[in-house]
Amino acid sequence: MLPRIILHNEISVDGRIDWITPDIGLFYELASRWKEDATLAGSNTILKQEEEMPEEDEEAFEPPVKNSGDSRPLLVVPDSKGRVRKWHALRKIGYWRDVVVLCSHSTPGTYLDYLKKRHIDYIVAGDNYVDLKAALEELNARYGIRLVRVDSGGTLNGVLLRAGMVDEISVLINPSLVGGTSPRSFFRAPDLNLPEGIIKLKFIHFEIIKDDIIWLRYKVVQ
Ligand SMILES: NC(=O)c1ccc[n+]([C@@H]2O[C@H](COP(=O)([O-])OP(=O)(O)OC[C@H]3O[C@@H](n4cnc5c(N)ncnc54)[C@H](OP(=O)(O)O)[C@@H]3O)[C@@H](O)[C@H]2O)c1
Repeated sequence: MLPRIILHNEISVDGRIDWITPDIGLFYELASRWKEDATLAGSNTILKQEEEMPEEDEEAFEPPVKNSGDSRPLLVVPDSKGRVRKWHALRKIGYWRDVVVLCSHSTPGTYLDYLKKRHIDYIVAGDNYVDLKAALEELNARYGIRLVRVDSGGTLNGVLLRAGMVDEISVLINPSLVGGTSPRSFFRAPDLNLPEGIIKLKFIHFEIIKDDIIWLRYKVVQ
């Protein structure tokens, strides 16, 4: 079974995710209301945070302590090229009970060995990129994941949206306009050839939160 998938982003009024300064506290306070089983984060989003994370020490090789009553979500990252290296620091943040890496058949074997040495679970699905449908079905089967909140930039959002896998869109509208010609929106994907590709939405919720930030939620019409 495919889990329910929710995209949650803070964007400018023109739909961009770059240049704006998101209200991080508000963003995660609202995100926590879903009580997701897994947070799906794009590897670029994680790599951006890695810049400020410490290097690993010997603790990174110790098996994590598992507690069956732990209700925190899993952090799940598609990383077919094996670029993320600071799993120890992500584990220590405390928001997630553990991490799971989504790999593909093109992921270097040396990276899979790297993960094994650190007791990091991974799923292999897809030839080049990760086959997200198969990987998320496996997440449901293996860990009982039923609700996924996506915390990523426009690239992963775009792949999930074009694949028809998204159930809900949540956007915090930051009262700003960025402009520009680079496609740095929260939905990056190849241009459409036909209007049939337009994704229809059904309004769910509207709220003025604070400092003129508007929270909009829509259900994706399948
Ligand atoms: N404003 C906000 O709400 C918000 C929230 C989160 C992040 N951000 C920002 O977004 C930026 C990063 O966004 P981004 O768009 O560059 O990257 P991203 O969405 O964070 O990462 C791209 C992800 O998409 C995967 N991917 C790409 N093509 C795929 C395909 N065909 N099939 C399956 N998976 C595919 C990549 O996997 P591989 O690694 O396997 O290629 C990677 O995990 C950062 O600056 C971050 O700060 C903003």
